[in-house]
Amino acid sequence: MRFVKKARYVKKIVAQARKKGKIIGFVPTMGYLHEGHLSLVRIARRKAQFTVVSLFVNPTQFGPQEDLQSYPRDLKRDKILLKKEGVDLVFYPERTEIYPEGYSTYVEVQGLSTILCGVSRPGHFRGVTTVVLKLFNIVQPDIVVFGRKDFQQAVIIKRMVEDLDLNIKIVTGKIVREKDGLAMSSRNTYLSEKERENATVLYQSLVWAKKAYSGGVRDPHWVIDKMRDMIENRGGKVDYVEAVDQKTLKPVKHLYKGTLIVLAVYFGKTRLIDNIVL
Ligand code: PAF
Repeated sequence: MRFVKKARYVKKIVAQARKKGKIIGFVPTMGYLHEGHLSLVRIARRKAQFTVVSLFVNPTQFGPQEDLQSYPRDLKRDKILLKKEGVDLVFYPERTEIYPEGYSTYVEVQGLSTILCGVSRPGHFRGVTTVVLKLFNIVQPDIVVFGRKDFQQAVIIKRMVEDLDLNIKIVTGKIVREKDGLAMSSRNTYLSEKERENATVLYQSLVWAKKAYSGGVRDPHWVIDKMRDMIENRGGKVDYVEAVDQKTLKPVKHLYKGTLIVLAVYFGKTRLIDNIVL
């Protein structure tokens, strides 16, 4: 496995692999890897013959009051984990490698970027699409794997790939959960013991919604209200709970098979997201 900080070396190494006829798989991450990330790496390894992983805490997707400085990092551990997974190339650029002095170009997928998480995190998805497009240009992958926990992110990136005619296949990997159902996230480390315990209500409420739907409930407002109650009773501060269409992310009038229930909730200062497909 090779560890590379410079974009020009990534381009060179990947070009050599492509010359040998290898399909290039890519998993962009912000590091501090957990099983969720590793499951995406395994998908990439199955679908491609040369796998690249990036580790970069992207400053442009954090708001001024957000956790850029405190975002957990452990490069040494990440490298060990990726080596074990049989990754071919790890790209871990410095900030200036991605955003050199004078950097001024941003990419924005309009509409989809300003709903759901985009409301309380203005500019977040602009930062995501900007860095992701930049990483795509550096790595030149054939297949890229994203997690479904960040469902909105995956929808936005698929839109960007289609709109900009990028010759890249986007694949999504399912949400990996802790034993008690909490979706794995690097930010779970911020939770106090009590908050961690209470946060299990998120998955419980999503499973409850799915059961309600299976039991014949079709009114999204009824389901959302009950979910909000469940979450607030456990100390969660709801940012949003919505029932939306998987492709457009617009609220649905009636629940149907394939409706996506999405939520973002604060426990203390930690904002967690999760979702389930009915
Ligand atoms: O999902 C993430 O970890 C990040 O948003 C991504 C895609 C690596 C871009 O910084």
